[in-house]
Amino acid sequence: MAQLPTPQGPVLVVGGAGYIGSHAVQLLRQQGVETITFDDLSTGHREAVQGEFVEADLADCGAIANTLKRYKPVAAMHFAGKTYVGESVTHPGLYYQANVVNSLNLLRELQRAGVRDVVFSSTCATYGQPEVVPIPDDAPQAPITPYGATKLVVEQILASFQRAHGMRNVCLRYFNAAGALPDGSLGEVHVPETHLIPLVLEVALGQRKELKIFGQDYPTPDGTCIRDYIHVCDLAQAHLDAVALLQSGIESLSCNLGTGQGFSVLEIIEAARAVTGHAIPVTVVEPREGDPARLVSGGTRAGSVLGWTPKRADLTAIIEDAWRFKRGHPDGFASTRS
Ligand code: UFG
Repeated sequence: MAQLPTPQGPVLVVGGAGYIGSHAVQLLRQQGVETITFDDLSTGHREAVQGEFVEADLADCGAIANTLKRYKPVAAMHFAGKTYVGESVTHPGLYYQANVVNSLNLLRELQRAGVRDVVFSSTCATYGQPEVVPIPDDAPQAPITPYGATKLVVEQILASFQRAHGMRNVCLRYFNAAGALPDGSLGEVHVPETHLIPLVLEVALGQRKELKIFGQDYPTPDGTCIRDYIHVCDLAQAHLDAVALLQSGIESLSCNLGTGQGFSVLEIIEAARAVTGHAIPVTVVEPREGDPARLVSGGTRAGSVLGWTPKRADLTAIIEDAWRFKRGHPDGFASTRS
């Protein structure tokens, strides 16, 4: 597939202070694309931001409108939102507000300002308990948590805006984002941390006593859940490819972003032991509610339509990158500690 051109003009990166958004900003800037990060820093980190920065909340439509007027982006990437699946079950209102209402604010302002191209961070959680694994791009979407539901609603809003207003969109359904920028300067920092790889590395670093394995009685070869871990730099590249595809005129695309390989919780722990050279004590506890046994991408559209393939799918390399970042930032970014 022919190389698509880089965007001709600035790109608005909403949520560009967060884990995946900050890697996208880094890559855009490396390619010579101007960026404007719009982030309220509720979960993002000021130190992770490069380039122009607007600290504002998507609840503030005036701030969105002013930002669009001032910087005149040619496209937007929308990473902002709440991402704790468990919290979405206990506090659904927060998730519908942050992920649906605020996204709608953004899309309406983009439409008013004439910004036609949007790349949206969706998730494999929109598939719920999948009937078929590996999960194809056109699998039925039946989310089982408010988190997944809110992401699906935004996909639907985007489809409606495309039909009504000609707003073009790419919805990228991520599997499990992992890893870090190989130079160790950017990586994953969540407060609280709930994701498997950073938690395992905190145990390796001696910051936690042990890793709790959520269930070992799943219908998988070793009884633990299987996930498809995709390097955050590969995700960032897919966003660049998506903007380029939109600018070439495609109306819409929804696709999975995964490697197609699944690893169990035990395999992740073993790989982390090998990378870090540290013991990683574990205990097995009750399964976490709503965790499907296997989530692995079986999508082909990212390759055939977007021209994207993961370049860093090797699990050891993913964990090595995450470990380099973790050792360099044992307590996260400076603002994480304040
Ligand atoms: N796990 C443990 N112990 C832990 C943490 C996780 O055993 O302390 C297990 C989980 O049960 C799961 C696997 O490790 O089987 C991965 O868990 P993560 O929390 O790292 O990620 P999830 O698979 O829960 O990811 C989900 C969705 C994504 C979504 C993400 C948002 O699959 O689509 O949550 O945080 F984006």
